[in-house]
Amino acid sequence: MTQYKNYINGEWKVSENEITISSPINNEILGTVPAMTQAEVDYAMASARAALPAWRALSAVERAAYLHKVADILERDQEKIGEILAKEVAKGIKAAVGEVVRTADLIRYAAEEGIRIHGQVMEGGGFEAASKKKLAVVRREPVGVVLAIAPFNYPVNLSGSKIAPALIGGNVVMFKPPTQGSISGLLLAQAFAEAGLPAGVFNTITGRGSEIGDYIIEHKEVNYINFTGSTPIGERIGKLAGMRPIMLELGGKDAAVVLEDADLEHAAKQIVGGAYSYSGQRCTAIKRVIVMESVADKLAALIKAEVEKLTVGDPFDNADITPVIDNASADFIWGLIQDAQEKGASALTEIKREANLIWPALFDHVTLDMKLAWEEPFGPVLPIIRVTSVEEAIQICNQSEFGLQSSVFTNDFPKAFEIAEKLEVGTVHINNKTQRGPDNFPFLGVKGSGAGVQGIRYSIEAMTQVKSIVFDVK
Ligand code: NAP
Ligand code: G3H
Repeated sequence: MTQYKNYINGEWKVSENEITISSPINNEILGTVPAMTQAEVDYAMASARAALPAWRALSAVERAAYLHKVADILERDQEKIGEILAKEVAKGIKAAVGEVVRTADLIRYAAEEGIRIHGQVMEGGGFEAASKKKLAVVRREPVGVVLAIAPFNYPVNLSGSKIAPALIGGNVVMFKPPTQGSISGLLLAQAFAEAGLPAGVFNTITGRGSEIGDYIIEHKEVNYINFTGSTPIGERIGKLAGMRPIMLELGGKDAAVVLEDADLEHAAKQIVGGAYSYSGQRCTAIKRVIVMESVADKLAALIKAEVEKLTVGDPFDNADITPVIDNASADFIWGLIQDAQEKGASALTEIKREANLIWPALFDHVTLDMKLAWEEPFGPVLPIIRVTSVEEAIQICNQSEFGLQSSVFTNDFPKAFEIAEKLEVGTVHINNKTQRGPDNFPFLGVKGSGAGVQGIRYSIEAMTQVKSIVFDVK
């Protein structure tokens, strides 16, 4: 069995205790990862702190050269990393390899973007006359030690999307991968190690969030917390972070709003792609359809026909629907399905489960008393909610505790913009499924879906801070 190690201060290190990682596909044991102790975390944090001055003193172009090497290595190793990733989080092999390539592309873009981040000079004179002689040199400086915490569903990409912008901005990084996904995270770390980053600039922390999470969040060496994961853990981090800046990308309940004039065939294809890819385990998955009653029968039939084309089974056969991450998640999803059934929702597909494999479930006539109308399943189940007006659709959208994204399907563009303005979300997609990319676009959630803005340039700006140097000129 492979014993994976943490990368700390330029060395690979084991810990006394280990966690065994097995595959959600078939329980195959994939290896062990260290369960770090608090003393080991202290050592890693101190190493990061010590590495900061030299790293931030490099020019952006010198830091970018390291990141380009990391991207080269990820491209070279895409199949090897993709295979483990597919096993570790039951992701289709094509999508898993694609995640590695997407991460290499993102790292390159961050390297390029980072060399174009610069400060500005400001002249006074807009206020009292004496301010005319003042000049401010406004620079961007790294925030310091960035703690990057990633979720299981994109253990490589949602790690790279934090690490690369942090590093190019002159920060040093403490990276905590998800436990189920930590082998993939440590393979990503191997790319940073092989690229030859100076010791201490990039370090990993493995261990269960429930055991070491609070300790690393509250650690005095951490200057910035960049977290993607569930809303309850994000809320906890928000409370523990104190005065330190944070980025939180959390859960969602993205709606697809379908109006009478929409191209229903197109909408159905987009909705099914958006709702069921990676078995619905995406923050940006479409998690409810809100449709005008007059076209609801037709849309429901079209969605059902698309769902029936989905394949179910093994990630290595590139099945559309694969086992969800663990049995506890499957139980939760199943609970939402049963609640909807008991309260009278109409199942349009066969409702079936074997252990943590759940067949794609589609429910029509979902009403607002059902949990499925409001909760994030993070699984392959989609509710259809019928409404009689645009106002009612917007009201139901905004009643959600979440505010990540929404889709609006209509051929009336002024109407689409009017609705987009009223939706309480970070992004609205017109006639398209909800999705994070392209990775240079801003990506954010409002309300229970997060705080702060990701997207390569936005992430670099978030993890650098303004320093203003003011002096008087004659
Ligand atoms: P999670 O349970 O919240 O875990 C996310 C990360 O936080 C993992 O690395 C986890 O480590 C760690 N963690 C757990 N407890 C912690 C604590 N007390 N302190 C610090 N870290 C802690 O989420 P998940 O199940 O991996 O991911 C699914 C959720 O993430 C969904 O709600 C989804 O919507 C959301 N998500 C949001 C976005 C977005 O961009 N908005 C993107 C992807 C996913 P362990 O694995 O060791 O527990
Ligand atoms: O799970 C959350 C991810 O940020 C979603 O990314 O829309 O590219 O699948 P994606």
